[in-house]
Amino acid sequence: MENRVIIGGQWGDEGKGKIVDALSRDVDWVLRYQGGANAGHTIHIGQEKHVLHLIPSGILHEGVRCLLGGGMVIDPWSLRDEILALEQRGHEVRDRLHISATATLLMPYHKRLDELRETRLKRKSIGTTGRGIGPAYLDKIQRTGLRMGDLLMPTENLERKAIEKILSANEILSEFYDAEPLPARVLAEELVVLAQFVAPMVVNPYDVLRPVREGTETALFEGAQGTMLDIDHGTFPFVTSSNSTIGGALTGTGLPPRVLGDINGIFKAYCTRVGNGPFPSELLGEKGDALRDAGGEYGATTGRARRCGWFDLVSARYAVDINGMTGVIITKLDVLDDMAAIQVATAYELDEDEITTYPVLSEALPRCRPVYREFAGWEKPTVDCRRLIDLPAAARKYLEFLERELGTLIVGVSVGRDREQMIWTETGVTT
Ligand code: IMP
Repeated sequence: MENRVIIGGQWGDEGKGKIVDALSRDVDWVLRYQGGANAGHTIHIGQEKHVLHLIPSGILHEGVRCLLGGGMVIDPWSLRDEILALEQRGHEVRDRLHISATATLLMPYHKRLDELRETRLKRKSIGTTGRGIGPAYLDKIQRTGLRMGDLLMPTENLERKAIEKILSANEILSEFYDAEPLPARVLAEELVVLAQFVAPMVVNPYDVLRPVREGTETALFEGAQGTMLDIDHGTFPFVTSSNSTIGGALTGTGLPPRVLGDINGIFKAYCTRVGNGPFPSELLGEKGDALRDAGGEYGATTGRARRCGWFDLVSARYAVDINGMTGVIITKLDVLDDMAAIQVATAYELDEDEITTYPVLSEALPRCRPVYREFAGWEKPTVDCRRLIDLPAAARKYLEFLERELGTLIVGVSVGRDREQMIWTETGVTT
C-alpha cells in the first residue's frame, strides 16, 4: 500500500478513527500530526469499544508503529492513562509508540486556562473541549512552552523548569482570572515521574521517519478534527488551534510533500458540529434530534450532544479543493436508512445572492442560508451491504450525486460502526 493521508472534511467526528483502523493494517507507520486529547476516535472491534484521544488507532494492529508528531500538544497525564488502559486490555503499546521530541507538552495549567477563558467569554465562548488545546498552542507560538524532548532533561533541571512555568501560569491564574494557583511543587514532582514513564518513547522524528522519507516504509497520516476547524482555513474564531488541513501533515511530521501519496477526505453522509460557531445546514428542533438519535451523535471526548444537519456541499467542495483530496470516503450512510427524504445543501443564499463558493469571511457565514436539493430516501437497511450493487438504488443515486458535485471519486462507503462494515471502490460510485 502506498502512503495516504486521512483528513476530516467537515467539523470533525467524521469517523476517521474507523477508517484509519481499517487502512492501517497494511502500513508500517501511523502518524498523528496535530491536535491533542481534544480528539476522540472510537473504534469498535467485536464487542470491544476503544476510545482513543492521543494515540493513533493504528496501535490496535500488531506490528504497526505509531508516532505522535511534533505538531501535536501532548498531555502526559492523559497519555499515560491511555497507554495503561490499552495495556490492560492486552495491547502491547510501548515498543511501538513513538513520541516526537518536538511536540509541545500540555500542562495542567493549560487546561485550567482553557476552562477559565471559556467561562469568561460566556455567550461568545468557542465551546472548546476543555483539554487545554488553545493555551498550549499559544505557549508554542509565543515560544515559551515545554516540549516532549524536555522530559529527557536531568530530573533536577526538569523539576526546576516545570516549577518556573507553573509559577508563571499561576500569576495569570490569580491576577487575571482571580483563580486559585496550582500546586507547583506537587505537579512538578508528578511530571518528573511521568517523564520516566514517557522518556523511552521520545524520539527524534527526523531519524525514525528516515525510512518513510526514503520510501522503504509506508505511512498513514491520521488527521484529527476536520477542515472546517482548521485554525487558518476553518470557521475562525470557532476553530481549534492547529492545522487540521493538509499543511499540518507536513509541518506536524517534518516529512516532505512528495511522500504524502493519496489524500483521502472523510465526510459523514450528513453533517455534525460540536461546539459553537456557524453551521449553515444545521437542523434545529425535532429533525435535528432525530438525526442525532439515529447517528448516536454524542462527543467521544466530552459526551456533548452534537449539532446535526444535512450534507453541506459548499463547505465540502471547499474542503476537497484546499486539501487537494484525491478521493473521499463517506461514513455513516446507514444512519440515513430510515429517512423518507434526504436533503443536501448545494448553495447558500447570502444577501439576496446565491453563492456556491465557500465565503471565507467569518462574518458572512452566519448570514448564509442553505439552498437544498431533496433526494428520496431508500428506507431499507444498508448495514449488510459490502458491494456497491448491494446498495438500494436511491442510496447509489445519492452517492453518485455527491461524487459528481465533489469532483473527486468516492473510494469508500461506511455502513456501520464495525471494521468490516465497509464498501471499498477504487473506481468510484458512478457506474
Ligand atoms: P479545542 O480544540 O478543544 O480548543 O476546541 C475548539 C473547537 O473545536 C470546539 O468547537 C470543539 O468542539 C472543536 N473540536 C475540537 N476537537 C474536536 C474533535 O475531535 N471533534 C469535533 N470537534 C472538535
